[in-house]
This record gives sequence, C-alpha cells and structure tokens, in this order.
Amino acid sequence: MQHPDVCIAGAGIIGLSLALELHHRGYRVTVFDQGEPLSESSSAAAGMLAAHDPDNPPQLLPLATLSLSLYPDFLNRVRTLSGRHVPFQTHTTLQSVPLHTATASSELTTKDLTHLLPALTPREHRFILLDEHSLDPRQLASALLAAVHATTIDLRPHTPVLSTRSIGNTVEITTPSGTMHAAQFINCAGAWAAASSHLLNIPVTPKKGQMFSVVLPPSLPMHFVVRTPDVYIVPRTAGPAAGHAIIGATVEDIGFDKIVHPSDIDRLRSLAITLLPVIAEAHQLEAWSGLRPATPDGLPVLGAVPGQPNHFIATGHYRNGILLAPATANVMAQLIVGEASSTDLSPFSPNRFFAELPSP
Ligand code: GLY
Repeated sequence: MQHPDVCIAGAGIIGLSLALELHHRGYRVTVFDQGEPLSESSSAAAGMLAAHDPDNPPQLLPLATLSLSLYPDFLNRVRTLSGRHVPFQTHTTLQSVPLHTATASSELTTKDLTHLLPALTPREHRFILLDEHSLDPRQLASALLAAVHATTIDLRPHTPVLSTRSIGNTVEITTPSGTMHAAQFINCAGAWAAASSHLLNIPVTPKKGQMFSVVLPPSLPMHFVVRTPDVYIVPRTAGPAAGHAIIGATVEDIGFDKIVHPSDIDRLRSLAITLLPVIAEAHQLEAWSGLRPATPDGLPVLGAVPGQPNHFIATGHYRNGILLAPATANVMAQLIVGEASSTDLSPFSPNRFFAELPSP
C-alpha cells in the first residue's frame, strides 16, 4: 500500500468534506468506509442548515455561524469538481418557540402566517421567522461523491478500520485488506466512531431518527420549512424531489437499530397534521431512519485524541452534521496543518471526556 499523508475513517459528509479540504491544501488523503460512502446519516438527514434552532446548545453557535459563512464556497468547490449544482431548497423557516421567548419584533402574527401559507393553523404554536436555508442531502451526497472521485483522494468503500496505533511519527492503520501507515489519522466515523476498539473512551452513541417523505398536495405550495421541537416539515422545491416534503423525526436511544416502525411514522404524520391539516391527504413515498452521532453534552468532538499521538477525531455532530460539515473540514484541516483555528474549539475538545478518567 502507498503511504498517504492523512488517513480518514468514515466517508460520510464530515469525512469527505475534510478529505476535499485537505486535498485542496495539497495533502494525499485516503478515506476508508465500512460500507458505502454517504450511505448513513449523511443521506438520511433532512438538510436544514438550522444554526438558529433554539434547541441547539448555545456553545454551538460560533461553529454553526462559521459553517454558514463557508457554505457557498463549499458548494462552489463541489460544483467545480463535480459539475453539479446543489441548490438551496428553502430560504425561510417558521420556527415555533415557547411563548415566553417570542419577542414582539420577531414574532409572526397569524395574519402573516395566513398570508405566507393559507393552510398553516398555528393554534398551539407561536412562530418566529428565521432566515435559514435547507438543501437536499441526497443531492449533496451524490455531488460530493462525484467531486471526490474527480480528485486523487483514495476512497475505499467496504473497508473498515480494524485498529490503529501510533508508531514514531506515523500511525499504523489496519484494515481487512492490509496495513497502511499515514502521518495522521482522523476518526470521522459518525455514530460508529466509538465502536472501534481504539477509541472506546469517546462517548459517541447513535440516536435514531425515523422520518418519511410525502408528495405535497397541489393545494399546498410550500416554499419554507416549518419546525417545532417535536416535528419538522421540509419541502423540496428543486431537483429530483421537487414537490415532495420530508417529515421527521424521532429521537431514540436504542443503539444501532434502524428498523422503521409504521406506528412511529403515523405519530409523526399526526404531529405534522396539527400544523398543516392538508398533510392528511399527502401520499407517502418513503420512510427511513438514520443514526445521529450524539455526545452527552450535545456538542461535536473535534480535536486531537489524548494519549494517541497523531490521532484526531471529528464526530458527534448529532442533528447538525450537514450544517457543520464545511466548518468541521475547515477547523480540522487547520489542526492537521498546524494553523490557528478560525474559531474557539475548546467547547468541542475531546479532553472534556477524559478529564474524569482515573489515573493509570
Ligand atoms: N437534523 C434533523 C434531525 O436530526 O432530525
């Protein structure tokens, strides 16, 4: 095997965005994935770039804001390499907020909502209007994969990383196809990041999300996202899924189970109907689930792995992997090349999970 500069485990949106960034900086990059690239949460996601969702931990905002600012360049790079344009699907989100936090200036009135969307019935919800984009993660996945294939990035599907160890200034990476040495190793394996024996101390666990898609009735010309803490409705307005909407999602702590239960989909549909009664008439297309990589504090884990020289980790993006991919690629590439970071990474330090370990 050749010796790349950097080896990445996990060809999801985080791993491949980082691979593109490092390739752009002149690095030789190999990416391993235990299955097909972009086939897990990267394609299951709804695609809301929800930097201002009130349910996000406040410490996430600087990284989320950085990522939003990098998104146009990220999509341009993907377009230049792949020839594929990934458009924003929506530009506005109606976000429900608890009554006590809605401010007079940002709060929409029922009249405003009726003007925007005649079908919306905000009986139990008060909404604010967010300038927020969404995109179709499946469109992005296919363009991103084409972009990676247009480079010299060595992408190896169906090749799990079995173990890694630091040897001098290199990392030895073992896969079923052999052993490789790289200067640096980055674990971007999402919900599976802690499943491999070499990173047992990082508490990343899967949080299952079930969701489904519908054909929007012609009476519902929907061009914006509607979101409450319990349900979201995300219309697709361009591309192969135009006229459809994604409705999600459950948040379940039951391990690596991806079974879709019709009763859970029915419950999501009932929640969506309380917001938009015409959803009751919408024909269901698909139902699926994804496994979000979650940490105990809801924040990503970005940085060097303590006690394992030349090992890095970038996972734990939970509900915001699509949003945070460009910023994660940016700050992790800065760490790898030894540049100062664009934003304070201390809230995301892997060290926060090691501080309480007993001394050996
Ligand atoms: N990003 C939406 C979700 O986690 O359901």
